[in-house]
Amino acid sequence: MSMLPDLEGYFRRFVPPRDEFLRRLEEEAVFERIPIVGPVVAELLALLVVATGARRVLELGTATGYSAIYLARALTPPDGRLLTLERDPVMAARAEANLARAGVADRVEVRRGEAMAVLAELTGPFDFIFLDIDKEGYLPALPHCHRLLRPGGLLVADNVGFAAAADFNRELFLSPLWRSVPLLCLLPHHSPERDGLAFAVKVGGGPPG
Ligand SMILES: C[S@@+](CC[C@H](N)C(=O)[O-])C[C@H]1O[C@@H](n2cnc3c(N)ncnc32)[C@H](O)[C@@H]1O
Repeated sequence: MSMLPDLEGYFRRFVPPRDEFLRRLEEEAVFERIPIVGPVVAELLALLVVATGARRVLELGTATGYSAIYLARALTPPDGRLLTLERDPVMAARAEANLARAGVADRVEVRRGEAMAVLAELTGPFDFIFLDIDKEGYLPALPHCHRLLRPGGLLVADNVGFAAAADFNRELFLSPLWRSVPLLCLLPHHSPERDGLAFAVKVGGGPPG
């Protein structure tokens, strides 16, 4: 059985379309070197929110609010809610303006602070968590993600191809508390375009809190 020629070029044709505003945020991100997920991972996140029927979503790492806009637009009104954490106050204010401009400010809260400090104060349950902070923070954040997710809730982690994510990858793979799979992907317009994504479902640990 033969494969399509130039597989990477071929799959670049299937980047999901998006509106002018999202394209502008992508251009700003390239210009300012802000590592946003880009349209492929963003569309995947939205699709997973829709497919899982997630109503309470937590994002760690807001930046300008690009992925938050996709997550928020995928939520089912009227009770779908996104809480997104950002430690840089300038970026957090910028995200709030972008979320308002995208028409989703009513269902999103941008919480300022260092992820570990905010996580320690948070109570669940969340149906879906998207992890996209500094990769050194992934492993310390993992027990909180488990505590905050409902049983069967989904954790998606970006950039698990980074060396700094190695301990997180190993823990997720070995832990009986998660059922997980890491994928090496081609992700057009992502930073970087050849990277890993991890998907994990909470399978143990009692009720969320
Ligand atoms: C990769 S960017 C997020 C991109 C965003 N998810 C998107 O795709 O549109 C990471 C953001 O998380 C913030 N951040 C990194 N480490 C953090 C931490 N430990 N606590 C809180 N925010 C953090 C950074 O300031 C940065 O704005």
